[in-house]
Amino acid sequence: KSSFSKLMKPMKEFKRNRIPKISVVGAGQVGTAVCAMLLLRNLTKYLVVLDINYELAKAEALDFQHGSAFLGDARVVPCGDGSHSKDSDLVIITAGARPSGKDRSRLAAMHKTVEILKEAVPKLVQLSPKATFIVISNPADVMTYAVQRIGKLPKHRCFTTGCHLDSVRFRNLIAGRLQVPPSQVQGYVIGEHGTSAVPVWSCVSVGGIRLTDVVKDLACGDDPENWWEVIEQVTTSGIAVGKAKGYTNWAIALTCADVVEAMCGGRGKIASVGTDMKGIQGIKDNVVLSLPCLVQSGGISHVFELPLTAVEQSKLEASAEVLLEAQCSLKI
Ligand code: LAC
Repeated sequence: KSSFSKLMKPMKEFKRNRIPKISVVGAGQVGTAVCAMLLLRNLTKYLVVLDINYELAKAEALDFQHGSAFLGDARVVPCGDGSHSKDSDLVIITAGARPSGKDRSRLAAMHKTVEILKEAVPKLVQLSPKATFIVISNPADVMTYAVQRIGKLPKHRCFTTGCHLDSVRFRNLIAGRLQVPPSQVQGYVIGEHGTSAVPVWSCVSVGGIRLTDVVKDLACGDDPENWWEVIEQVTTSGIAVGKAKGYTNWAIALTCADVVEAMCGGRGKIASVGTDMKGIQGIKDNVVLSLPCLVQSGGISHVFELPLTAVEQSKLEASAEVLLEAQCSLKI
């Protein structure tokens, strides 16, 4: 103890209140970007950086801790075996195998990632039985299904950021064409966070004006403005960034922080996130996919059934089929 602490007279009955705790699992490019966004946006005061490579977790946590005075005095703790994650309120899973070789699709790395989750999830759930789990590891929808099964977690408390990222890419691309700020475009992408994702053109609005009311034959075969190109860009742009830099991290980290803000900021938000949607929007099986959900402090409180067109509904069902097939191939 330093001689300064002699000046600090303790109050006998004082007990510090519990500070909400967030654990980020995986200290790779995505995990550390998520940590940075949560800290910079002041969404956490107690962050655990967890990685099976403890030396890496220690270095990353220390690097953040050094800047704590600029991060709202947040406490950042490293963890290797999970123990420091005990009693987390929120667990964000980013760990997984990186896509490698020619096939960079999100489904390619699936089997390796599920093995990692089989190791990690039971302990994480045991240590934080009341936590909400957000799964980012790709393929995000299928891995969320795996985490729900492995951890026996209820679907409102274990979900993926899913198509919230595709939706924000979609809004950005529409905004670019119309030369308006991306935040002023509303719209959803639903289904798989991947190539079968479905843009909901019938719900796109710009400053409150429905795009389908103004643009004829929007994104149909004979659409003279070629809006269908936008959705092609949405579904391929993540993969293109991944090819160029080896991974994507900033947009997904911002997307994750947006969801955490909805939960921890006390406001709630409607976002296209993914969980088991059986019984909703004509989905007949236990399949994890994204639909607009109201996300609040306890997780997902409501799912919104959209007034989809027949084409959108059949594309959603086709996306569900793709995911169901991938889910069925899992060994869990
Ligand atoms: C992406 C990764 C996170 O779309 O799937 O950027």
